[in-house]
Amino acid sequence: MRTVFWEDGQLKMIDQRVLPGRFEILSFKDHKSVAWAIKEMVVRGAPAIGAAAAFGLALAGFESASSSTSDLLADLQAASNTLKSARPTAVNLAWAVERVMGVAAGVGGERSADKVRQLILAEAQRIADEDVEINKRMAEHGAKLINDGDTVIHHCNTGALATVDWGTALGVIRMAHEQGKRVHVLVDETRPRLQGARLTAWELEQYGIPYEIISDNMAGYFLKTGQVQKCFVGSDRTAANGDVANKIGTYMLALAAFDNGVPFYPVVPTSTIDLSLPHGGLIPIEERDPEEVLGLEFHGERIAPKNAKARNIAFDVTPSRLVTAIVTENGVVVPPFEVNLKKAVLGE
Ligand code: MRU
Repeated sequence: MRTVFWEDGQLKMIDQRVLPGRFEILSFKDHKSVAWAIKEMVVRGAPAIGAAAAFGLALAGFESASSSTSDLLADLQAASNTLKSARPTAVNLAWAVERVMGVAAGVGGERSADKVRQLILAEAQRIADEDVEINKRMAEHGAKLINDGDTVIHHCNTGALATVDWGTALGVIRMAHEQGKRVHVLVDETRPRLQGARLTAWELEQYGIPYEIISDNMAGYFLKTGQVQKCFVGSDRTAANGDVANKIGTYMLALAAFDNGVPFYPVVPTSTIDLSLPHGGLIPIEERDPEEVLGLEFHGERIAPKNAKARNIAFDVTPSRLVTAIVTENGVVVPPFEVNLKKAVLGE
């Protein structure tokens, strides 16, 4: 089943806030509630929020009462700004919205407002369908990097839940498993939202892939003691030089992997590569509500003192010097990333 899908004129999404305790599908009828769902992480993961925003724009088309094409385009523009501002780091969000807006505003003859509504829904559906196909292609490339018997560390959740279906880094692991390789996964729990312990572990159970959850600060131990052969992570935005923005904690994992000579592989659809940014220092980094850090409970009690303050940085940037290779749907890209990422994106 897909994480994000269109059914009966509505956008439906798995509510990722309540997994693994409950499996619930929520329905969305307007773009503002889709923007809310992205912000609150009902839907999360760069490709999944891109697809959700694309369908959100289709909803905005049906919400608009405009009968003239130009009025409809103005309504869509306003909706696209709302959707794009929901979360700043994942470039897929702006990429998907701009792709749909490009179709809405596209050249070629007089088009009725209703025709534009149909075209944007079709484009959103195409983005969703392509995502699944791209993930499977990436998985085929990436699975070649996994040997029978490998133990790998995985950070955050990059599986079917983070995409429309199949997944990026977790999709690589899943493909290797389906090819009959024995793979063991050490799942970083991924504080503070625990995407690893909650979502990745839940997915690995469904696929029958052996795993153990580790707290994020255990990764260095396992890397140093020779118990890990590779690290696989996703990315929310990768700069032209191969610097990779991903879930907070990825940088520390990459440092420990590098220090211990363990290959570190981001798995990155080309829609996540932002060639307009020469380096990762320019990637906007989301800071979220400190309550996500402070509100965690242990044995039914809040972990922090009542008046404690906290910071909640949601992503960090791993410099490309720590990256062994980047897996894309167009192949495994090796350094120099400045040259080779561009080729992978532009198909040169
Ligand atoms: O804050 P999240 O859960 O949306 O962060 C998700 C990640 O960091 C993933 O690794 C990234 O989106 C790539 S997954 C396909």
